[in-house]
Amino acid sequence: MRVAQAGLGYWGANLVRNFDELAQLDWLCDPAEEQVERFSRRYPHARVTTTFDEMLADDGVEAVVIATPVPTHYALAKQALEAGKHVFVEKPPAMRATEMEELLAIAEERDLVVMPGHLLLYHPGVRKLKDLIDRGELGDVLCIYGNRQNLGKIRKDENALWSLGVHDLSVILWLVDEEPAEAWAHGKAFLTPGVEDVVFCYLRFPSGRIAHMHLSWLDPHKMRRITVVGRSRMAVFDDMELERKVTVYEKAPWEPATTYGEWLTRTGDIFSPKIPNDEPLRLECEHFLRLVREGPTHVEARDGLAVVRTLEQLQESLAAVQASA
Ligand SMILES: NC(=O)c1ccc[n+]([C@@H]2O[C@H](COP(=O)([O-])OP(=O)(O)OC[C@H]3O[C@@H](n4cnc5c(N)ncnc54)[C@H](O)[C@@H]3O)[C@@H](O)[C@H]2O)c1
Repeated sequence: MRVAQAGLGYWGANLVRNFDELAQLDWLCDPAEEQVERFSRRYPHARVTTTFDEMLADDGVEAVVIATPVPTHYALAKQALEAGKHVFVEKPPAMRATEMEELLAIAEERDLVVMPGHLLLYHPGVRKLKDLIDRGELGDVLCIYGNRQNLGKIRKDENALWSLGVHDLSVILWLVDEEPAEAWAHGKAFLTPGVEDVVFCYLRFPSGRIAHMHLSWLDPHKMRRITVVGRSRMAVFDDMELERKVTVYEKAPWEPATTYGEWLTRTGDIFSPKIPNDEPLRLECEHFLRLVREGPTHVEARDGLAVVRTLEQLQESLAAVQASA
């Protein structure tokens, strides 16, 4: 399969490495001349260009990978779909739900793949969490919360919600398999005016489940964690752990018949299921190529739309709270 990639920055380099190993990497594109030169030395078999149009004009290219800055995603993805190419686009694929709806509509009409780069959905640890929920191992899921905190990397162009929240949100929506009925965000821009460094989000789902996200690059803890509280068990995915990525706790509320409505708690074993060591990015790239080969299901794009729609709601709430403060 012939693949072309736009965007050769920090993350783009990881995608290039994988697609070069998994497919025929034909084109590399970046407006920055020095990037193009650097990559042409490392990947001499790929053609290079500084213009996206030149790359798209090659009829032999089947799939385009987009790893450019977020505000460029929608326009580039749209152009590539309209040129008849399958598209892998880094997260988030658009900054407005209407834009993502448009990308999905073009892909559906032309039977093309448009897949957002929601990396964590391919993480074997997150897959295990989903499996535990779907098999009923945790009982009814009551609430989920995500912690994505660290000191840095301090960004100036996108706030903590868009930069960090997109990861946790894609996981939370996928785990509960529903979109929120209510979405609130509170946050504060301490360093760069208009760019929130710390954001707290609250989501309520039609099923009654609730979720929370703490997103911050002003924090003493480096945390990459998702906690799922079920009625029978509780589970934690912790990406900072080397070996115990997922931990299941035999902890739950308990209402014995003899205590007449008084709630007690039950605690038991704590165990860590084995999680394969596969690189999530490799699994994500393989998934994209499989969709291109076998035909799109549009599931990934619809999940991406739910993420953008919720991000947009959270951003509106964040702005409204700021305006009234
Ligand atoms: N999945 C993940 O875990 C993860 C991690 C980091 C970044 N990302 C995503 O990857 C994307 C890129 O992030 P980055 O950190 O590599 O940024 P970066 O700034 O390091 O690289 C972006 C590159 O895109 C190039 N570019 C800009 N406009 C272009 C255009 N029109 N055509 C082709 N190239 C263009 C720039 O010159 C630059 O080289 C972002 O969407 C980001 O959200 C994802």
